[in-house]
Amino acid sequence: MPLFHDAFPDLVRELEREARDGVREPQLDLLVNAARSHWKALSPEQQIDARPMAEALGALTKARPGGPATAGAAGAGSYAKAGSNGGSYVSEASGSNGAGASSGGGPSRSASAVGTSVPGVGYEPHFYEGPPDPDLLLAHIGLAGFRPGQREAVTAALEGRDSLVVMPTGGGKSLCYQLPGLASSRLTVVVSPLVALMSDQLRRLTEDGHPAVMIASGMTEEDNRASFDALRSGLARIVFCSPERFASSWFVSVLEQRGVDLFVIDEAHCLAEWGHDFRPDYLRLPVAIERLGRPTVMAATATATEAVAGEIIDRLGLRDPEMVRSGFDRPNLSFDVAGFEGKGTKDGKRALLLGALTDPELKPAIIYCGTRKDCEEVAGMLRDDGHEAAHYHAGLPSDRRAGVQRAFMDGSLDIIVATNAFGMGVDKADVRFVCHWAMPTSVEAYYQEAGRGGRDGAPSRALLLASRADLSRLIHFNTQRAIEPETVASYHRRLLSRAQDGVLEMERPENDDDRTSLAIVERAGGARLAPAASGRLHVTVERRLDPRTVDQICREAKDRGWRAYRAIEAYAFGDTCRRRTLLDHFGDRTEGAPIGRCCDVHDPDLGFNPPKALKKRKSSGSGGGAQEPSPNNPAPEVYAALVVWRREAAADKPAYTVATNRTLEAIADVRPTNELELGAIKGVGPAFLEKFADDVLEIVG
Ligand SMILES: Nc1ncnc2c1ncn2[C@@H]1O[C@H](COP(=O)(O)OP(=O)(O)OP(=O)(O)O)[C@@H](O)[C@H]1O
Ligand SMILES: [Mg+2]
Ligand SMILES: [Zn+2]
Repeated sequence: MPLFHDAFPDLVRELEREARDGVREPQLDLLVNAARSHWKALSPEQQIDARPMAEALGALTKARPGGPATAGAAGAGSYAKAGSNGGSYVSEASGSNGAGASSGGGPSRSASAVGTSVPGVGYEPHFYEGPPDPDLLLAHIGLAGFRPGQREAVTAALEGRDSLVVMPTGGGKSLCYQLPGLASSRLTVVVSPLVALMSDQLRRLTEDGHPAVMIASGMTEEDNRASFDALRSGLARIVFCSPERFASSWFVSVLEQRGVDLFVIDEAHCLAEWGHDFRPDYLRLPVAIERLGRPTVMAATATATEAVAGEIIDRLGLRDPEMVRSGFDRPNLSFDVAGFEGKGTKDGKRALLLGALTDPELKPAIIYCGTRKDCEEVAGMLRDDGHEAAHYHAGLPSDRRAGVQRAFMDGSLDIIVATNAFGMGVDKADVRFVCHWAMPTSVEAYYQEAGRGGRDGAPSRALLLASRADLSRLIHFNTQRAIEPETVASYHRRLLSRAQDGVLEMERPENDDDRTSLAIVERAGGARLAPAASGRLHVTVERRLDPRTVDQICREAKDRGWRAYRAIEAYAFGDTCRRRTLLDHFGDRTEGAPIGRCCDVHDPDLGFNPPKALKKRKSSGSGGGAQEPSPNNPAPEVYAALVVWRREAAADKPAYTVATNRTLEAIADVRPTNELELGAIKGVGPAFLEKFADDVLEIVG
């Protein structure tokens, strides 16, 4: 309703000016058309209300130089179609006013110009005029069927219900908001963290004439202005923008005037401090949503962990959201696991990988490694074997990283060997092989990374090289990462000491411990977060931190860590179909429907080529060669076993009440053979000895 009213005065002014000048202004056709669809979107009561305006507009339109808006516009394509659809306000309202047809002025300024694109926006809008029906909308954009979950998400938005849409990478989240966006003459705002993600979608939409624009930094002044014009005039139904935009109150007020009925947060895990991709600018969004009068909100992400989902819901204040969490099957991906145990593990992995890569069908390939050092080593190993391979991790200078990424994206580099720093925004369609050199930390992480393969729908293989030794490394990692209340408290103290008058501005924490600590400090009332300029964080630090909340969250985080560990262990070493295991993990009950190979459980023959004759590469002191675990490292299996034992020993108390990580490390290192030796270890006291000595000695023995 406000839309029609808002657009009315401007449009009348323009039409009057046009009548005065006597020269037809093709751009106005589009505005008239937009007003017409706004009119149609009104309810019958609203139409009665707005009738006088509609009549005035109808008269002015009829009297335009060159005739009514669309009647004479031969070859105006979809625009003419939209205009001649019948039921427009012109035909409903113009009866009373017979103001002569082509009045006044000279010949129109080429009516054929009507069909050309809007200057600066570059497309001819093709408005959807039908009812808010998912199937009609799908047909409108020319697709044959919904993928799992899409219909539910679209319906929720059309019905004005909030939703959290969790679908795997490449699963089709964009459609979930694009369709409702196109359905309504009010505005849909889509917030996305990367210009690359937006511009790709925008291009596809506008190529087909769908009314969408983007407003982002890095665009020319002119393009931005054109976008704003389209936005304000009602010409655009979807606007893509980056979260930074919401720092501008003016920007929000432009949206507010236009009237927003759907607010979409794409890559919504950027809102969650638990996640890797946490982006402080996303913290602006809840405030903006309120200011926009609380439109329907849709949050979309591929990250499915409970913690992240919970945080998204909380921060956005989603109201009883529809949880769309399905469509996890990726039929064109196959999932293989190759298990390794004991001494020959590394050679085995190497042989399998090198063999696989002799197959040109398995390139381009991404090899994910657990550590930066492994990245460099594996990339070196591949180059030694004659491949074009480069490593990519967060320790590289950013221009180097960008260079490697670019080379991989444009096809000049076949193989990228990367840590999980290589991820979001990587939209390369034709990746044929994603190999994990080591166990990832969770099934979520694995599926997201493996899911970067085969976005073009053609077959792509995912291979996990799983070694038992990795499991203990994962356990170790898990316990290291498990955050102790004391760590959180000390992080809070650090914030307090750095704050001035209780306020502090800082970079977004990069390291996992700090990020988790900050997340917990905030939840326990120790800090409030707000975005600051250029992606920094504005932190208001409170003196008090509620220790009980801290304890509880630490415990929950730990439980989550262990659940994640058990899930990835079950995936790698279980004996049920990998695809089934993945689908179950994500709560997708549908039948998997592979279009080719399913997994190694279904077909144990991986079918990779044998490697070329393996070159021995060690010795020669070149460094970077394969390194067997040194005998004086604390034995990871022993440590792992102790950690597992501690979890049980602690029952439902925090694990550190049994023993700290450092104590367990020391025990694994020393491997005491009797109570005396055990008691000599720092952190082991009489109470510990009395309760646990037998257990522990048995484990390390
Ligand atoms: N119902 C459908 N029918 C046919 N193609 C579809 C359908 N839904 C989505 N697609 C196509 O699938 C591809 C991936 O969709 P989309 O980009 O929305 O994935 P996504 O879930 O946003 O993934 P990411 O997490 O990587 O952003 C696109 O090329 C899109 O056009
Ligand atoms: Mg997406
Ligand atoms: Zn299978």
